[in-house]
Amino acid sequence: MAYQRLSKRFQVTWNKNQLTEKQLVSLIVPYHAILTTLADPVTAKVLNAAPNLKCVANFAVGYNNIDLVAAKARGVCVTNTPDVLTEATADLAWALILSCARRLPEGEKFVRTTGFKGWGALFLLGQDLAGKTLGIYGFGRIGKAVAQRGRGWAMPVLYHQRHREKPTVEKRYNAKFVSFETLLRQSDVLSVNSPLTPETRHRFTLKEFKQMKPNAIFINASRGAIHCEAELAKALKSKTIASAGLDVYEFEPAINRALLKLPNCTLLPHLGSATLETRTKMAQLAAENIDLVLSGHQPKTPVFK
Ligand code: DGY
Repeated sequence: MAYQRLSKRFQVTWNKNQLTEKQLVSLIVPYHAILTTLADPVTAKVLNAAPNLKCVANFAVGYNNIDLVAAKARGVCVTNTPDVLTEATADLAWALILSCARRLPEGEKFVRTTGFKGWGALFLLGQDLAGKTLGIYGFGRIGKAVAQRGRGWAMPVLYHQRHREKPTVEKRYNAKFVSFETLLRQSDVLSVNSPLTPETRHRFTLKEFKQMKPNAIFINASRGAIHCEAELAKALKSKTIASAGLDVYEFEPAINRALLKLPNCTLLPHLGSATLETRTKMAQLAAENIDLVLSGHQPKTPVFK
């Protein structure tokens, strides 16, 4: 996809392994553009080692792996892949919500290990979602798509972010802007859909989990470091909140060991955008951005102007 497209016009190297900062520093020297994943650390050190670099095309909507200040200072254009992954990522967030509400990992594990012995009136009881309150932290494209899906369950939506949306937008999603504290206290399901920034890092710690309802389901399909993973494990172990569905981790790909032992969480390996259609569109967009920048044009989706 991206490789085939770019190879027609440029000399391309496809590095299939995840690279460390040190490896990137030594490999990046001759390149005019790099197509990076969210796991590639494009630090000031890396950017300073690339005298020819004009474009960093991130294969993700999030770009917390890139030092934007250093890129801007060096005149390097940074692009991402918004919009094309919104629906797939919102679907995945909902897969986690349903998984937590209906205790799917426990049921699955039971069938495979113990074997299905028959229906039980009190066996693996989860909780209803219909009519419950859906809280969204970060009401951007993906947050809105998560809220939109909540309509199927007639869930009133609360949201919190830096700014309030226009009344027409709030009406469209049946959503109400609330303080962070209200979001914590009133959400039955709280979905994190915010980018990772210095302001959002560790926004959810034990202090916040303690303000949530005991039946609350915490979902993060955004970036792991927005919650403190060790403290989330404590909150789940002590049943401070009911369960968590995570697609992302604070020290990805490592996962907190306590979390791995807990039954009341669904843990996925960062699959948010992982559908064939979406990844194809992401690759096409990233390749197009590189093509445009190296041809002297504005990219389609610049992270900054
Ligand atoms: C992104 O694009 O930032 C997502 O995390 C990919 O799943």
